[in-house]
Amino acid sequence: MQVALVGLGVMGKNLALNLIEKGITLVAYDKNPHAGEELLSCAKSQGMADRLHIVSDLRDMVRRLEAPRSILLLVPAGELVDTVCNELVEAGVNCDDMIVDCGNSNYKDGITRKLKYQNKFEFATMGISGGAEGARHGPAMMASGSEGGWERIEPWFEKVAASYNGDSCFARVGQSASGHFVKMVHNGIEYALMQLIAEVYQLLRLGTNRSPKEVAEIFNDWSEGQLNSYLLSISSHILSLENHNNVPLADLIDNKVGAKGTGLWTAQNALELGIAVPSLVAAVQARHLTNACNTTAAQEMTYASKSTNNVEIDLEELKEAFLLASLLAYRQGLALIKGASRTHQWKVDLSKTLQTWRAGCIIRADYLDSVAQGVEFIDTLEKESNSLRKITGQAIMTGLAFPVLGATQTYLATLTTPSNGHLVQAQRDYFGEHGVKTHSGETCHLTDLVDIDAKVR
Ligand code: 6PG
Repeated sequence: MQVALVGLGVMGKNLALNLIEKGITLVAYDKNPHAGEELLSCAKSQGMADRLHIVSDLRDMVRRLEAPRSILLLVPAGELVDTVCNELVEAGVNCDDMIVDCGNSNYKDGITRKLKYQNKFEFATMGISGGAEGARHGPAMMASGSEGGWERIEPWFEKVAASYNGDSCFARVGQSASGHFVKMVHNGIEYALMQLIAEVYQLLRLGTNRSPKEVAEIFNDWSEGQLNSYLLSISSHILSLENHNNVPLADLIDNKVGAKGTGLWTAQNALELGIAVPSLVAAVQARHLTNACNTTAAQEMTYASKSTNNVEIDLEELKEAFLLASLLAYRQGLALIKGASRTHQWKVDLSKTLQTWRAGCIIRADYLDSVAQGVEFIDTLEKESNSLRKITGQAIMTGLAFPVLGATQTYLATLTTPSNGHLVQAQRDYFGEHGVKTHSGETCHLTDLVDIDAKVR
């Protein structure tokens, strides 16, 4: 099998080594010649250089590949994807060939590109998760697109991806550019889980006066059971680290959080589609808020900054609350994928989606098996629901900030307790005559309800 790869940055280089290791012959290119040299020397040191051909331009790449060609792009999302696609067309790529965009591209660009290039080559998309380590030893691969080109390379990518209980974490999750949508939502969930862990840490650190090392031990303890997840275990490791003066490394890092955009896209798409993902949105805004601290406006509100640091937190309840809040982050993400799939007619397979997340990716977690069992699992978690409510209440009473915990408790409560929507509908009708619906499904105005009620009496 022969594949080409354009873009030999950290992800590209590691994926290249993985592809070669699995027996694929690779033709690789990067506009920076040093990147190619570095890959070659890595491949040599691992005894795999015979299956690697570094080329110095795209024409040479196209010439060396047997038709039909399969070309992977691992270049930064945005205009560069189009630049490379156009250069590849000039270099001789044609309708029988497939180009797969493997970056963190916006799925909307994927839809546009599928149309734009339909007479030039087959354009497909694939979201890849797992960072450098995943790319090298087995990432999660969320692919989408038409049958043609994928059928050629799919069996190989099933080997390149991570595997869980013998099943590959590569899947064509749905049609069109749905792979990038699924990867985008993966990142939205990633933001929520990261923030949730940070909030639990904050509660234990500032609310109960524990040191980072003590919190690391609690996280480590949890990781040995059902809560085991990649993000929890790296958090435990990070919190256990100290410099040579015994200062926790976590205390040496500025609080402002960066973002490349996928979390924001998740929130924007959810709002546009009218699908509520409050925990995911809260996580994006939590990052934005870290950049608003220490501004003049924030400093003027210092009266609100007093927080308590002696709450009695039951660790078992915290663990249960954390488990349920984590599960609810996935539930929201899956609801968003389901809604988008319906709107765009992508036919996304949710169980295949979950299969790609079982190993290799950033949001892999042992408790994903219960998510896979379906959304009904939440009904079985009464104890956890009570703990989530109690812990959220205690957390908020400390005066510290818990955006994702608070949003998640609100999400659960909204779905499981009487709604107050009737009053908002009545308000809308009162000033805007937008109409209200009665319990029997009849549409009318508030004023009509007076008559209906009179008739009933
Ligand atoms: C992954 C990660 C990866 C990357 C994100 C981080 O699945 O491997 O999600 O895609 O680390 O781009 O995004 P932010 O910079 O926005 O946190």
